This record gives sequence, C-alpha cells and structure tokens, in this order.
Amino acid sequence: LTTIREIFRNREKYLDKEVCVGGWVRSIRDSKTFGFIVLNDGTFFDTLQVVYHDEMENFAEVSRMNVGAAIIVKGTLVPTPAAKQPFEIQATEISVEGASAPDYPLQKKRHSMEYLRTISHLRPRTNTFQAVFRVRSLIAYAIHKFFQERDFVYVHTPLITGSDCEGAGEMFQVTTMDLANIPMTEDGKVDFSQDFFHKATNLTVSGQLNGETYAQAFRNIYTFGPTFRAENSNTTRHAAEFWMIEPEIAFADLKDDMMLAESMLKYIIRYVLEHAPQEMNFFHSFIDKGLLERLDNVVNSDFAHVTYTEAIDILSKNNDKFEYKVSWGCDLQTEHERYLTEEVFKRPVFVTDYPKEIKAFYMKLNEDGKTVAAVDCLVPGIGEIIGGSQREDDYEKLVKRMEELGLDREDYDFYLDLRKYGSTRHAGFGLGFERCVMYLTGMSNIRDVIPFPRTVNNCEL
Ligand code: 4AD
Ligand code: MG
Repeated sequence: LTTIREIFRNREKYLDKEVCVGGWVRSIRDSKTFGFIVLNDGTFFDTLQVVYHDEMENFAEVSRMNVGAAIIVKGTLVPTPAAKQPFEIQATEISVEGASAPDYPLQKKRHSMEYLRTISHLRPRTNTFQAVFRVRSLIAYAIHKFFQERDFVYVHTPLITGSDCEGAGEMFQVTTMDLANIPMTEDGKVDFSQDFFHKATNLTVSGQLNGETYAQAFRNIYTFGPTFRAENSNTTRHAAEFWMIEPEIAFADLKDDMMLAESMLKYIIRYVLEHAPQEMNFFHSFIDKGLLERLDNVVNSDFAHVTYTEAIDILSKNNDKFEYKVSWGCDLQTEHERYLTEEVFKRPVFVTDYPKEIKAFYMKLNEDGKTVAAVDCLVPGIGEIIGGSQREDDYEKLVKRMEELGLDREDYDFYLDLRKYGSTRHAGFGLGFERCVMYLTGMSNIRDVIPFPRTVNNCEL
C-alpha cells in the first residue's frame, strides 16, 4: 500500500501508473454503470477520488457500501486537469476490508462540534479533526525540536506526588484505601499511614518543583507531560487533564524567561505553518477567519510588555466594560486578559510583577515587598497561555513565605535543599499545551483539541 501523502508528494512518480491505497470512504455515489468514492487514508488532509465501473466483478457490493467503510483500492492514477482535484484513481479492483453499518454517525454533512464530542472515537475521521490532531502532533514535535536544538534536557517528572505546586488545593487525590471504610487516627484525621505510600498523595498539578531540581544540575531543562487539576471551572479553556511544557533555566532571570517564551512560541508557529499548510489554510478558511494574518503578525513583531500595576490602570479606566470590576490586588479574569491583548495591545502581551497574594509561594519577591517576579503571557482569543516566574532563590525568604501560607515543610524539604546547596538565580514557565493548540488552530473549545477530553462532569471513553 502506498499513502495518499506519498502520492501527492511524489506525484510524477505515480501518474499513469498502478497504485494501491487503503483508506476510509468519506462519500460514495453511483449511477448504474459507474461510481465515485471520496477516499481519505489519514496520511494527508486532501482526499483522493476513486472512479469505478461495472466491469469490476464486485461492482454491486462496492456500490452498496456505506460511508465509513474501510477499503483497499488498486488502479491507475490519472491526471484530471479539468477537475478540482489534480488526479484520481481509475479503479481496477476494490476490496472491502471492513464494511460500515448504515447508521454510521458521520454522514456527508456538517456536524456540530457538540455532536462530534459525543463520538470522540469517530470524530478523528472528519476533516476538522484530521487537521486538529495532525497539527497537535506537529506542535508537540516542534516543541521538542525547539528545546533539543538548544540543548535543553527533557526531564520526566512524576505524575503522582505529595506536593501541591500551585498551592490552589485543586488536586485529584490518589489512594488505594477503601473509600467506604477509611481508617482514621485517634484525633479524627484520615490515617494515610495505612495508604499505599504511607502518606497523602495526589496527581501532579505541575512538574515544576521536580523540574527545578534538574535545572540546578543541568542548567536548562524542560518537562512535557500530563498535569491534572480538579478546578471546578466549566469553561472552554479548562480541562481536568491537560499537558504542560515547563522549561526551567538556571542562571537566568525573568527577562531571560520571557525571551525564551517568545522565541519558543514564534518557533512553533513557523514550524506548523511550514509543515501543515493544508491544515492551516483549512483553519483560516473554515474555523477562524484571519488566522493566518494574525499568526504571521505574531511571528514578525515583538510581544508587548506591561506590568500588572500598569495593566490595572488601563483596565480600571474601562471597568464599565467588565462583568468583574478590577482594582489593584485582584486576579485578572479572562475578560480582562482578552481586553488587554485584543483591544489594547492587539498582539501577545507579557504581564509581569503581580501581587504576591495572588501568585504561588515559590515566586521571587520583588524589592517593593508587595509584588513577585511573575509573568503571564496573554494571547488574543484565549487569554493566558503561559504562566511563569523567576523563583525565590533565598532560603530565608522562601521559608518565611511557606510559613505564611501554612505549607507543610516536610513535603518541601527537597525544594528547600536547592536553596541551601548552590542556589542560583533561576526561572521557568508553563505553557498550556491545549491552549497552544487552540491558539494555532483557532479552535475555540479545549474539548476539541484533546482527543479524549476530561472536564467537569465528563470522563467518557
Ligand atoms: O499558570 P499555571 O498554573 O503555572 C504553573 O503551573 C507553573 N508551575 C508553571 C511554571 O512556572 N513552570 O499553568 C501554566 C499554564 C497556564 O498558563 C495555562 O496555559 C495552562 O497551564 N493551564 C491549563 N490548561 C488547561 N486546563 C487547565 N485547567 C489549565 N490550568 C492551567
Ligand atoms: Mg497561571
């Protein structure tokens, strides 16, 4: 079997020759003596038309086929200069590898995204999801390529952990205890000493703390793996299970961190535009008009920079436009983030130096004693795509902050050790992989950029 991608790529080699391809029927129509099949084999965004005639001995069987059937076609690839597609296969043989039942849920019409979410096992056969998941795969590759070309070490951080990196308490607990019969201590607390790990554990919300330890040995590292958050937010941008990329760089500050983030995003965009032109044109035409101009603009201009305090100034002057009114000290909501990036700056923007109260314990305290060296990168259409910071590298300050927040020292001993033994300035960030896929494809719901989404109230398949 050859692939449709190979045929399109090296068409001269195959024109007027015999080819053999296997794929799934997107549509089929026939008259008494001949018929047309639109075939997709998943290797290429464009489909291949197959023409067949009643000389074929199983003409009746083929004509009876339903959309969705898996077939193998043998025939000659002939040019079709007058048609929309550059060539077609004149079939000599079609074997039905797997018939498809007449109630195949993907008929040749436009289905809503909501409906397609109910058939996440079949939606990868539609052109929209062919495009989304090929691009998702390419973005993952581009990210590895970006970091590997810069000699970053890829670190596999654990998924089961005893810490809550972000301190938001939004964790899925991990236990082997019988929930109907939970052992309790004498003072009425859950007795985790009888649990598998002899302590309370949870799925990780971030690989950062472990990542930092490797940055203090390799200088530049990155993680790329699943993270889990039991956030009760039913939005188009939150998933309970999502992937995160977390680089961590030693001997580096917040400026270095932002430079890295900006060049990474630009690199990924360029890579995908170059390697998935059909898919990107499709998104531009059918999913998000103007996508290509927007991305082009991102690649060719500098990101904007604004401090949190400046951002609050801008936003509070426009409070009449917001559901949640802003004032210094409040966390930015999506509506504020989108206003900044879509209305004020009209490009990606780094917001820095947030109040320490609304950020995680590990961020470096600024000299004002009120703000921390944090950065969020906001992009049009989405809002926050990256969250990062320079880390607190001073042992005393870090201990003080942990005490203020009531963190359990025992769980973070290893983390404090880093500040005892050769502490360096260091910084890092987390890129939400799904949000990055949304940004590059123009898809507007996180449920549509992850193959089997897990969100509040939904864990199908
Ligand atoms: O801003 P966050 O919470 O930062 C961290 O976890 C840091 N430890 C990162 C670091 O400095 N190494 O999350 C980082 C990014 C967000 O900007 C967002 O893109 C994504 O992760 N994210 C989510 N994506 C989908 N669903 C969710 N529930 C998400 N929560 C965060
Ligand atoms: Mg964040």
